Order: sequence, then C-alpha cells, then structure tokens
Amino acid sequence: MKISVAIDGPAAAGKSTIANIVAQKFNFMYINTGAMYRAVTLMCIRQNISYTDVNRVCEVTKSLKMHFEGEKLIVNGEDLTESIKHPTISNTVSNYAAISDVRKLLVKLQQQMAGEYNVIMDGRDIGSVVLKNAPLKFFLTASPEERAKRRYNELSEKNISVNYDEILNDIIKRDHIDSHRSSSPFVKAEDAVEIDSSFLSLSEVVQIISSYIKKYIEEHR
Ligand code: CDP
Repeated sequence: MKISVAIDGPAAAGKSTIANIVAQKFNFMYINTGAMYRAVTLMCIRQNISYTDVNRVCEVTKSLKMHFEGEKLIVNGEDLTESIKHPTISNTVSNYAAISDVRKLLVKLQQQMAGEYNVIMDGRDIGSVVLKNAPLKFFLTASPEERAKRRYNELSEKNISVNYDEILNDIIKRDHIDSHRSSSPFVKAEDAVEIDSSFLSLSEVVQIISSYIKKYIEEHR
C-alpha cells in the first residue's frame, strides 16, 4: 500500500520544514513542489526568458531532469537547493507557476513520483489537484506577519540581505497571484485538516500531522 500525504498552504507557512521532518520520521519521500516551480523560474531567468514567453518557458521545463535527494533538488545534475530560495526567485516564481502548460508538465512528474514511493508532498494544489485522492491532507496556515517574520529569520540566518516589509509584501502579492490564477488556483481542499500554526511551535505541528499519519497506518495495516 502506497501512502500519500498532501500539505498545502500559503507562502512561507513552514510547509517545507515540517514536511521534511515528518518525511524523515516515517521514511517517506519528501517532494517540495514549490522547489520545482522555483527551479523552472531560475533556469528561465538564467536564459533571460520572461514568463510571458510561454513557449520557451515550456521548452525549458521539458528540458529539466529533476529529482530529490532528501531535502535537495537536483536539476540536470546541478544542486539548486539553495539558489532557488533567493528573493529574486520568490519575487517572480508565481508568474511562471501560473502558466497552465508548465503546471501540466510538473503535475505529471509529481504524480509519477507519488505512484512509485510513499510521499509527503507540499505545495498549493496538492490536495485539490495533484493528489486529489490522498487519504491525508493538511492545510497549513499562519498570519502573513508571522510568515514574513519566519521567512525573514530564515534568510537572515543564511546571510541573505533582506528587508521585513519587502518580504511581507512579496508574501501578500504571491498569495494573491496564487489564489487568483485561472489554472489550478490555490484553494483549501474540502477534506483537508486545517492547522493554523500562528501560535504553535514547529514540534507541535509535526506532532499533530504525525498523529493523523500514525492513526491511518494503524487502521490500514
Ligand atoms: O516556500 P514558499 O512558501 O515561499 O513557496 P514555495 O512552496 O517554494 O512555492 C513557490 C511558488 O511556487 C508559490 O508561490 C506558487 O506560485 C508556486 N507553486 C505552485 O503554484 N504550486 C505548487 N504546488 C507549489 C508552488
């Protein structure tokens, strides 16, 4: 029996940190779908390809061989894990991710991965589109200010120079584009368990999600 766990949520809600810890705990493969959209964006920026040039963006997307090694995203043999986190990518990734044909290509890849392994996958359309039939779905949120604070700390710790207000604006802008695009907009799946992490610690959120997974595993032995 393959198990799929979907975690959706707005920008900087802590999905990747939490999904990664839960994945290690249960020995699932962690698939960070945001990283895949970020990789497409980075590769296009490197070649000066605007998100308005849909055909070329799709060509680039098709040319990318992506796989995950733990938390790392390897693209055409190159480890892009850190470079895709840069604010330059965050600023524009939602425009590339709104391209319907790019989404089709990446969703197909994500579904193939889920067909082969037990996965925990995070993103914006996992519970609603990619893993619509997943038995375990979570919707992780927090206030925009709390999310901006967390992202500010994360980037500062990596010595990336950042400004709190710019991060907050980016988060608000990205949430808006993600929720209003025509192709699989960001929505909470009806059957997702909502967790507001504004006043919860990382380990409390991990515990809540883990308890659902444990219960599911016990019931389906
Ligand atoms: O880490 P953060 O919450 O800042 O964002 P992310 O998960 O890395 O996703 C970056 C962007 O990719 C999002 O703002 C969306 O525009 C896009 N994305 C998407 O459209 N669908 C997904 N399943 C995952 C990400």
